[in-house]
Amino acid sequence: MLALAWLAIGALVLPAALFKTAPYGRHTVKSAGPTIPARVGWTVMESPSALLPLLLFALYPRFEPVPLVLLALFELHYIHRAFIYPFSIRAGARPMPVSIAAGAFFFTSVNGLLQGWVITHQPFAMDPRVVLGTVLFFAGFAVNKHSDRILFALRAPGESGYRIPRGGLYGLVSCPNYLGEIVQWCGFALASYSIAGLSFAVWTIANLLPRARAHHLWYRETFPDYPRERKALLPWLY
Ligand SMILES: NC(=O)c1ccc[n+]([C@@H]2O[C@H](COP(=O)([O-])OP(=O)(O)OC[C@H]3O[C@@H](n4cnc5c(N)ncnc54)[C@H](OP(=O)(O)O)[C@@H]3O)[C@@H](O)[C@H]2O)c1
Repeated sequence: MLALAWLAIGALVLPAALFKTAPYGRHTVKSAGPTIPARVGWTVMESPSALLPLLLFALYPRFEPVPLVLLALFELHYIHRAFIYPFSIRAGARPMPVSIAAGAFFFTSVNGLLQGWVITHQPFAMDPRVVLGTVLFFAGFAVNKHSDRILFALRAPGESGYRIPRGGLYGLVSCPNYLGEIVQWCGFALASYSIAGLSFAVWTIANLLPRARAHHLWYRETFPDYPRERKALLPWLY
């Protein structure tokens, strides 16, 4: 029931996010209120999804192949995102509004509990969806990490400006890091063949598709020499 409600809310976020870009990074506005350093914001707001599934697994241990694979995928992402990614962010990154970190903290808490509950409670059998979903997850994970690394390398220590990213899938789209993240969670949804997994994939699309569009328009307005053939998120399409 919670998974269905979460899916419905995620689907509603998409049209809303097309009209209002979340105010962090290059889209920060003063009216977003007080800020904290980006590294602190990312660690605090992503930690619930790293810790809550582990807590649920400790309470309801389940040493079966599919739940262990799903837990490993989820934790691989979130331990990196909460405890490694923040320390790769350049010191010059825009500070993060507390309101954004608080909203994301709520999201990762609900989502971490939901995915952790499904992993520890839903019946699973090893089937082709698990294998295909895991392959997709790793493909998306690799694209996301590689693309984020290209962005970090654009700034020398102490710099805070923006440059045109090049290399990897940046030849095709403005936001391959978002594309990788979407593929990753679609893979997880397939591997978990659950409404909960689907709801997270829908939320990720709802957050990142409008943001990719906003980044893309911003790049085009900011850099007169921005490559015209580059799309926002989907190679050759969008
Ligand atoms: N699952 C989800 O729903 C979800 C939602 C949001 C984000 N994420 C993931 O979280 C990660 C970070 O997201 P994000 O929205 O912060 O990504 P982003 O806007 O692409 O920025 C990533 C980092 O690179 C810097 N940067 C971006 N473009 C740059 C450029 N052209 N020149 C120099 N530096 C640049 C940013 O600095 P500034 O901060 O100063 O702009 C920031 O530190 C991504 O991997 C994304 O997929 C996932």
